[in-house]
Amino acid sequence: MVNTAIMGQGYVGLPLAQGLANTGNQKLVLGFDVSERVVNNLNAGKSHIDDISDAALATMIGQGYRATFDPKDIALANTVVICVPTPLYETGEPDLSFVVSATQMVADNMSPGTLVILESTTYPGTTEDLVRPMLEAGGRELDKDFYLAFSPERIDPGNKNYGITNTPKIVGGSSAESTKRALAFYTQFIETVVETVGTREAETAKLLENTYRHINIALINEMAIFCHELGIDIWEVVRLASSKPYGFQAFYPGPGVGGHCIPVDPNYLSYEVKRRLGTPFRFIETATDINSGMPAYVITRIQDLLNDQSKALKGSNVLLLGATYKPDIADLRESPSLEVAELLVAKGANMTFHDPHATSFRMHGDVYNRVDDLDAALAKADVVVLLVAHAAYDLEDIKSKSKVIFDTRGKLSGANVERL
Ligand SMILES: NC(=O)c1ccc[n+]([C@@H]2O[C@H](COP(=O)([O-])OP(=O)(O)OC[C@H]3O[C@@H](n4cnc5c(N)ncnc54)[C@H](O)[C@@H]3O)[C@@H](O)[C@H]2O)c1
Repeated sequence: MVNTAIMGQGYVGLPLAQGLANTGNQKLVLGFDVSERVVNNLNAGKSHIDDISDAALATMIGQGYRATFDPKDIALANTVVICVPTPLYETGEPDLSFVVSATQMVADNMSPGTLVILESTTYPGTTEDLVRPMLEAGGRELDKDFYLAFSPERIDPGNKNYGITNTPKIVGGSSAESTKRALAFYTQFIETVVETVGTREAETAKLLENTYRHINIALINEMAIFCHELGIDIWEVVRLASSKPYGFQAFYPGPGVGGHCIPVDPNYLSYEVKRRLGTPFRFIETATDINSGMPAYVITRIQDLLNDQSKALKGSNVLLLGATYKPDIADLRESPSLEVAELLVAKGANMTFHDPHATSFRMHGDVYNRVDDLDAALAKADVVVLLVAHAAYDLEDIKSKSKVIFDTRGKLSGANVERL
């Protein structure tokens, strides 16, 4: 029976704690978080993460899970996993302050022989050049006083087929013994663990995965813009190309990219390439330009639809369907819907929104609440914009109640439907 502490109880840390608790071979799974609110809610059985229900949390608590904000509890653990945010500063540079503060707490409180694993997405070299020296402070030695590894998190919130146990996990240690121990840790609850020679390759593999998505989404977004100009249906084009059984993977256009990963992680890679080699990572920069321009492109298409009704954007009623960054979750982080909303408000449109999962969002200090009566809002809207195709939406019913619907997800067709 062993004890594990997980630093950060968010979208990554809490499902990890669940995977570990469910093995039944943990004496104690400590969910450490600096937010007292998060900790108190978790200990009271209230989950704030979509993929973990209150019932699942109750099961975890029965299996030895406990949340804490007391750093001294870290000393109880043999293994500490760091799952804290890695956002960007306003300037676009990586903000590693959460990784630094969490590592400092581990360094100040860990017991001799602890295995420390970083899971936060970050640029290559973070584990060796930032985390390791902090753990070595005071004369501690790797392979004697502690062990260190990097293992990127690949969780896909809302994914019903792939979760913590059946998504293969990459593991790379700072030493052979660290790798061995980290492998033993993850094989307790993950079906396939992929071993690598060091931490840098593991860090870079995660960035490659998200950069690949970022670039391919940008490619299809740019194609969507050109196809519209040429009078070609991009959705049909993707469907046709997808009939090829090899060499092609379908990506779909949309109103932009959101979440904690795609809009953020590639910048960690381009930043490090620029800093170390002085060279721009051109693919990433181009993809960022295209994807970040999509909300503004959506506005021009809404303007065109209003133009057809002899109306200006200013003063028109525009109803947005979907505020979250992807379907069937409540996460609003970096959501392109919020940018579309911001641009509409800036141009004087009467913007309203509906989302089955998000009741409100904050913009420039103002709180925007979702419309209560969807049918009434649909009847009132000059243009309805489908931004997120949540499963809870009856899209045919929505279409039948809309004057004009701009479908950015390629889900609808018909006389009153305009597709991206
Ligand atoms: N969300 C995803 O889909 C996803 C997928 C793969 C990888 N990741 C990566 O995993 C990491 C964590 O992301 P997340 O989505 O879980 O973030 P999150 O914001 O959902 O949760 C992070 C938690 O860490 C806590 N925290 C902040 N500083 C702390 C500290 N010093 N000690 C302990 N806790 C602290 C916060 O209070 C918060 O509850 C990021 O690097 C992210 O890029 C996220």
